[in-house]
Amino acid sequence: MTQSRALGVFDSGLGGLTVVRAIQELLPNEPVIYLGDTARVPYGTRSAETVLRYSRGCAQLLVERGVKALVIACNTASAVAVEMLRAELDLPVVGVIRPGAEAAVEVMEQLLRKERFEQPPRIGVLGTPGTVASGAYPRAVSQLSTRFEVVAQAAPLLVPLVEEGWLEGEVPRLAVERYVAGLMEQRARVLVLGCTHYPLLKPLISEVAEKLAGRPIPVVDGAQATARAVRQLVEEGKLARAPSPASGAGLELLVTDLPAGFSESARRFLGGSVGHVEQVDITLR
Ligand code: DGL
Repeated sequence: MTQSRALGVFDSGLGGLTVVRAIQELLPNEPVIYLGDTARVPYGTRSAETVLRYSRGCAQLLVERGVKALVIACNTASAVAVEMLRAELDLPVVGVIRPGAEAAVEVMEQLLRKERFEQPPRIGVLGTPGTVASGAYPRAVSQLSTRFEVVAQAAPLLVPLVEEGWLEGEVPRLAVERYVAGLMEQRARVLVLGCTHYPLLKPLISEVAEKLAGRPIPVVDGAQATARAVRQLVEEGKLARAPSPASGAGLELLVTDLPAGFSESARRFLGGSVGHVEQVDITLR
């Protein structure tokens, strides 16, 4: 039965687990198969053609595993592949950019109801070079509201810092300061974490942004908004799995390289044991 199948989620590495965590919180009955393409991380510094090819490989593997819906838990892949995968696959596909843009517009509207600004504030996006070059966030925001301008900053060093577990200290702070300063100068008053790796650096990013702007800066992470989009899709598509308290929903972890390291990071990140991490090969697809 389709309902009993898992949701398929993929990212280039660890970052998409931020989305998995949000899905598990909101949809505790839904089993998840997560694929981290650790052999080819990072995606964010590669060309759109390459990211599209990698995304197709990840999607195909998850489809072969029988998933009932696909969540592209990677902004870089969502920016270039969401429309293509929707057209090519015979199952629902959710990306992270539209939900992230919706969350940012919502926060911006709340801010404007509460405060007066001398000059119109902007939405600042931190993303990978691929996501920034795609223009996907300004496009998504303009489809939701014509009131808000978007300024974007590529922050490529943050992905390897997160993969290494360097979430605090001098090195990540210097990198974050360098990336966030330009956005603050351009009147960004809300920051969107336009890469699923960055929520692991959220406390540091919030702190640095507040220091630079001299006021609290809301930092929006699209993970919860994406989980809400997944819930809507599951409910509307009548895809929800019946609760099964005995076995729990379950999380299967697949990676394309270095399963032991991934298992350790995933355990730290999701809390508790994550079970066996299976290594898979998608390079031949
Ligand atoms: N976490 C991904 C994103 O949301 C990609 C990071 C990378 O591989 O460069 O963009």
